[in-house]
Amino acid sequence: MAEIIDIRTDRDRALAEGVRVLSEGFPVAIPTETVYGLAADATNPIAVTRIYETKGRPQFNPLICHMADMAMAERHAIFDPISRLLAQTFWPGPLTLILPLRAESGIHALATAGLDTVGIRLPQGFARDLIAALDRPLAAPSANTSGKVSATSAQHVAEDLGERIRLILDGGAAPVGVESTIVKVEGETVRLLRPGGVPTEAIERIAGRPLLRPETSGATIEAPGMLASHYAPEAAVRLGATAIEPGEAVIRFGSDIIPGIEQACAVFDLSPTGDPVEAAANLFDMLKRADTVGAIRIAITPIPDRGLGEAINDRLQRAAAPRE
Ligand code: TXA
Ligand code: MG
Repeated sequence: MAEIIDIRTDRDRALAEGVRVLSEGFPVAIPTETVYGLAADATNPIAVTRIYETKGRPQFNPLICHMADMAMAERHAIFDPISRLLAQTFWPGPLTLILPLRAESGIHALATAGLDTVGIRLPQGFARDLIAALDRPLAAPSANTSGKVSATSAQHVAEDLGERIRLILDGGAAPVGVESTIVKVEGETVRLLRPGGVPTEAIERIAGRPLLRPETSGATIEAPGMLASHYAPEAAVRLGATAIEPGEAVIRFGSDIIPGIEQACAVFDLSPTGDPVEAAANLFDMLKRADTVGAIRIAITPIPDRGLGEAINDRLQRAAAPRE
């Protein structure tokens, strides 16, 4: 079973142990502001292989490489002016930029899936300090078995991956609760590859142009996080529920009265006040809990697309998609 160290009470030991295990080439579960990451030295092919092995990922997808600061990011990737402006505005924070990889980067091809681009993010807080202490970029997908709901607490990680990893660093509940927004600047256009923790409206304001949305029906999948069935609970999921059927578990947004809710086997409130930021922070934890109450189905009430609502609805559509 993984050792769990609380970074809030034992920060120095968490940093030292984190650096030690990472230096030995093993993955460590780390708190980030978005979700927990399963992090490994992005320059060490054995360490990166262990990420895929631990998650049971079916194929080698490109991973996000996390940096300590702008200087480190510039050593690994080439910034165009719009990407640099977005980085200055939203880093450290929940934004990933897809950028050309520098030939001398040292990030292993297993972390980029052999692409000539790299997904880069500067996380906030402890994760950033850990990367600075290690002095290497950390490749880190979400710390969950492939295809499952992302972990937003150390407890989630321990239940899912605890038998397969050595160390979990516990930073409490992830404050944002959904993964980073991924964008790629291509000449004059800025493409949205995945909605996430930075609302698209905020990115459009800074970039000074509308984002090109992902192809919803196209055959090319740029970000495998975009696979239709992803973030999947065990139970079936019904979206846009405005009335509840007996035996359903309900995940509710806002406090509108919902016919039939008294017949639900459990009710989870994402945000009684209808705040999408609060709802994002609660989303994955409530999906997991709704999955444990023996419901015939999980019914989710409508959530407006504004702000983080877009990322929430993106994840919910994947949770509700037909299973492979
Ligand atoms: O918030 C997050 O982004 C979390 C935390 C741990 O930082 N990480 C995360 O990583 O969600 P992951 O591996 O689950 O998602 C990475 C996504 C994938 O959909 C992948 O295809 C895309 O980023 N990606 C990475 N590098 C890429 C590249 N060079 N080109 C296109 N997509 C890329
Ligand atoms: Mg993931």
